[in-house]
Amino acid sequence: MKLFTQFESLELGKELIDLALAYKANPLLDAAKGQGKRIGCIFLNPSLRTRVSTQIAAQNLGMEAIVLNMDKEGWALEMKEGAIMNKSTVEHIKDAAGVLGTYFDILAIRAFPSLTHKEEDVADFTIQQFIKYSGIPVISLESATRHPLQSLADQITIQEHLAGKKKPKVVLTWGPHIKAIPHAVANSFSEWSLGMGHDLTITHPAGYELDEAFTKGATIEYDQAKALKDADFVYVKNWSGFNDYGKIISTDSRWMLTENHLAKAPEAKVMHCLPVRRNLELSDEILDSSRSLVQKQAENRIYAAQAVISKILG
Ligand code: CP
Repeated sequence: MKLFTQFESLELGKELIDLALAYKANPLLDAAKGQGKRIGCIFLNPSLRTRVSTQIAAQNLGMEAIVLNMDKEGWALEMKEGAIMNKSTVEHIKDAAGVLGTYFDILAIRAFPSLTHKEEDVADFTIQQFIKYSGIPVISLESATRHPLQSLADQITIQEHLAGKKKPKVVLTWGPHIKAIPHAVANSFSEWSLGMGHDLTITHPAGYELDEAFTKGATIEYDQAKALKDADFVYVKNWSGFNDYGKIISTDSRWMLTENHLAKAPEAKVMHCLPVRRNLELSDEILDSSRSLVQKQAENRIYAAQAVISKILG
């Protein structure tokens, strides 16, 4: 495996989940596998979980992890081919990624969308430039369109809590937010849940339809109460408009999940990728209850990253 940027296949998904669970049982199982190798973790945007869990994962494999907060500590990058660099950008992606490719064995990149230039965002332009010019394996730490390490951790967490269910009912529900939030987590969660064969329902107010490229095969239900009925797993996430690109269409607080919403889903476990805005996106009563899997998802980020790095190391 040379790239980890999206869901590839059920077979690979299962393999990565099994490997991650083996690492969770014994984090130092392959403690020498990455000896003498380096991973560069390049952040163009903020992070808590992704940054720390990826470093721990690399260290568990005996690999050195070097983090560069490119947004704050690096030179301002120019992404456009043929640009005359007489404005604020200092270094071209061709040069920066080429250099990073000589320093590291694996590059891991976080590059959020602009939410203003839809075409570039949908094409995952920034991470694709790193892939093109670094010439080494690349792991997505969240791109404009997807957050595959989060989704792998989410699928590991679902697997751990299946309680014998073969095809769980999984519901992705939009939650309110005051800011325009990217689509990556929602897209990726949908892509991976469908890919892993779950029964996926997506619910949101009208206008928040996601890119169909990620949701084909899911049930789209605009009535949140109907969608939540008999759910085994409820994933709460905000996202901004896709058709009305990057726009906040509604902040309807009735969509924030509370215990009342789950009256007809008594067994439902609740998930969120974090960070979460408490009592805006998701209520304290859910987050602090035994339904919540959010801490387990965050813990599984380590083993998701460890499985992916290990697979790339070969
Ligand atoms: N879930 C997630 O990616 O968290 P961070 O943004 O803190 O890395």
